[in-house]
Amino acid sequence: MSRVERSTEILHSDYVPPAGFGSLTTPIHHASTITFQDVESMRARDWRRSDGYTYGLHGTPTTFTLEERIAVLEGGRHTILAPSGLAAIALINLSLLTAGDMVLLPANVYGPNRDMCRSLLGQWGITAVFYDPVLGAGIAALITDKTRLLWIESPGSVTMEVGDLPALVAAAQSRGVTTALDNTWSGGLLLRPFDFGVDIVMQALTKYPSGGSDVLMGSVTTRELALYEKLKLGHMHLGYGVSADDAYLVLRGLASLEVRLRQHEESALTLAHWLKGRPEVARVLHPALPDCPGHVFWKRDFLGSGGLFSFVLEPSISQARVDAMVNALRLFKIGFSWGGAVSLAVPYIMGHSRPDVPWNGSPLVRLYVGLERAADLIDDLNQAFQNL
Ligand SMILES: Cc1ncc(COP(=O)(O)O)c(C=O)c1O
Repeated sequence: MSRVERSTEILHSDYVPPAGFGSLTTPIHHASTITFQDVESMRARDWRRSDGYTYGLHGTPTTFTLEERIAVLEGGRHTILAPSGLAAIALINLSLLTAGDMVLLPANVYGPNRDMCRSLLGQWGITAVFYDPVLGAGIAALITDKTRLLWIESPGSVTMEVGDLPALVAAAQSRGVTTALDNTWSGGLLLRPFDFGVDIVMQALTKYPSGGSDVLMGSVTTRELALYEKLKLGHMHLGYGVSADDAYLVLRGLASLEVRLRQHEESALTLAHWLKGRPEVARVLHPALPDCPGHVFWKRDFLGSGGLFSFVLEPSISQARVDAMVNALRLFKIGFSWGGAVSLAVPYIMGHSRPDVPWNGSPLVRLYVGLERAADLIDDLNQAFQNL
């Protein structure tokens, strides 16, 4: 380059990451523009592939590394990152469904997915049909020539029913229906959906993989290349991107995922058993306990149970008293989501999604058991229960 002004020169760095810099962490690469050596190499690059870089939106070394790690976690081959778990759900719905199609969802599905399918997709001529999450092979009767997508969420993240995964997948496969499973409850380690023949696995990385309550991100993973390419095209059409800083935080969280999950599971089981012994509690909805609908399927298909479960209070206890109990909690904070270090509690008023369940209308509290000592959490519940 001929002599240029300093103001121009400072814009052009020759920086190359140092060879032999043996750090154990993935560098945080920021980029919108990615430059090419020449026009020929620009034309030769394909934005759909992760073996080269074209534009920040389509991937950086940091996001490609996280995608590859999540594919390993889920037991898949191809992963696409989305700006939140809900954005990952939208990516699947919007990439696979078109006017005239029907989508099947469990009645206990994550609420915003239900609302998206009912309202947003509904106005574009897509029909959403909801099935009982413990229906199993009976799902076959609901599948029509218009059914394109079967959503599975097991267990449901509030009412905790565990579905008969092999039966649902077999029914879908026999009619050529694509299956998508929300694997957020399991954190990717406690259920291996691809081993059951599921086509697409999504996860809210916001929760266990990040582990810090400080990131929003989602993932969509497949084994099949053609399906991945369809989703990748949808990803491009939607203009989704995730920041390299956030991707780094999830990469950092992944390293401790298994030990955290083990601790959440141990403490949650301790609390679930304590709650079972309380006279105010009618039912503990924890997939690892026999009281939970679909417990036999959890036992057959899952490798553990993590930190999220619910309990139902005796119907004679008013919602106002339940709210007072939750307000009195000190260690448990009131808040949505899960996966971080701090325990959370949310009171739900049941009565919308599954009118047939025996505890319909009874107050329900969902607990997320974090990394505090279980004995301290029990003390906290014990003092708050005085309000019941
Ligand atoms: C089961 C389930 N799936 C997906 C999501 C969406 O995740 P995000 O909060 O990252 O949009 C949530 C969030 O609460 C969830 O509970």
